[in-house]
Amino acid sequence: MLCKKVELQNFRNAECEVIEFDNGINVLHGENAQGKTNLLEAIYFISLGKSFRTTHETEIIRFGEEFASISLDYESEGREQNVTMRFSDNARQKKNVTHNGVKITKLSELVGSFRAVLFSPDHLQMIKDGPALRRNYLDVAISQIRPMYLHSLQKYNKILKNRNTLLKNAEEDRATFDATIDFWSAQLAHEAALIAKARAEYVAKSGEIIADFYSRMCQSGEIDEHPEFIYAGSAKQDGELYFDVAATEKNFLRLLTDFHEREIAAGSTLYGIHRDDIIINLNGKNTRLYSSQGQQRSLALAMKLAEGEICKMDCGEYPVFLFDDVFSELDSGRRKNLLREIANRQVIITSCENDMDLAVPFKRIEVAKGKYIS
Ligand SMILES: Nc1ncnc2c1ncn2[C@@H]1O[C@H](COP(=O)(O)OP(=O)(O)OP(=O)(O)O)[C@@H](O)[C@H]1O
Ligand SMILES: [Mg+2]
Repeated sequence: MLCKKVELQNFRNAECEVIEFDNGINVLHGENAQGKTNLLEAIYFISLGKSFRTTHETEIIRFGEEFASISLDYESEGREQNVTMRFSDNARQKKNVTHNGVKITKLSELVGSFRAVLFSPDHLQMIKDGPALRRNYLDVAISQIRPMYLHSLQKYNKILKNRNTLLKNAEEDRATFDATIDFWSAQLAHEAALIAKARAEYVAKSGEIIADFYSRMCQSGEIDEHPEFIYAGSAKQDGELYFDVAATEKNFLRLLTDFHEREIAAGSTLYGIHRDDIIINLNGKNTRLYSSQGQQRSLALAMKLAEGEICKMDCGEYPVFLFDDVFSELDSGRRKNLLREIANRQVIITSCENDMDLAVPFKRIEVAKGKYIS
């Protein structure tokens, strides 16, 4: 996967810009608040189908303008391709997306076409914070290689919303609740089982790969540490059982049937894949509670590198790596280790450092006030 050229119109602080990339390392260099992350956001938008920074898409339209667009030329399996997105400031008008000139109506038709992996300082919270970021890690990674996964996830979220509304209104309208709850519970359990299986498989597959990257990213003091990843699903069964979709569906359905009163009191669905987590241990100890900043950084990086590796195993080519502000946070040892891992891949890095020494050739793109000059 190669990101060849991006054309931006009225995207954040860029007015009308064309940016071309090399196949190896590209460094977006500039002072704070100039538009470095904005460009990564635009590129990742094409991969994810949405922004990684905001859920309000009109925010990305340049102040005072009525529309914005991103057009990305990329190469996949030797074929030149293009995705173009056009946004209007009319909140009722959906964004217009085309892939090789053909209009796309569903996000799940787009995701997986242009594959990228983003790593930013926020990803450190994947290790330390609550489960939402870890679920998001899985959702983003699996969606890129399994378009049906995203489809299931979207379906799940819709069903969940309806079921939650029913639970909230149950006290006022018990008759409607009693008549329809089983229907929503069955649908939810069905999608939950499919999603849990995909997640459990991904965690099982990525565990060893992450552990390998981790040991190579680490400094000498951390070398004897072995990370372990466990998919902790809320269907209350051992991880491997998630591979059996029928059994998981039955388990979820039982939970969604047996605890109605508790769910009504909470006003929301208490069981399902929206409550799941990945437990990350280092030498048997939960990293959430015991890991240092350096360990978190190495682990988060290893998880992101593994995301790229699994993508390669699945699709035959590496995704484009987008590293926002990552190198400035790494000590020289880890920096060297990371560079070794990403050699021969396309990487787009942002940096404020004036004399960034990567010890390898790279293309430098100067970023100032929304202009990109190479
Ligand atoms: N809709 C918009 N219209 C115009 N400018 C915008 C819009 N949204 C954000 N900006 C501007 O974009 C700039 C921020 O860009 P960005 O986040 O890419 O900075 P950066 O170069 O990554 O900086 P840092 O090094 O601090 O991370 C800010 O100056 C902000 O005002
Ligand atoms: Mg930035």
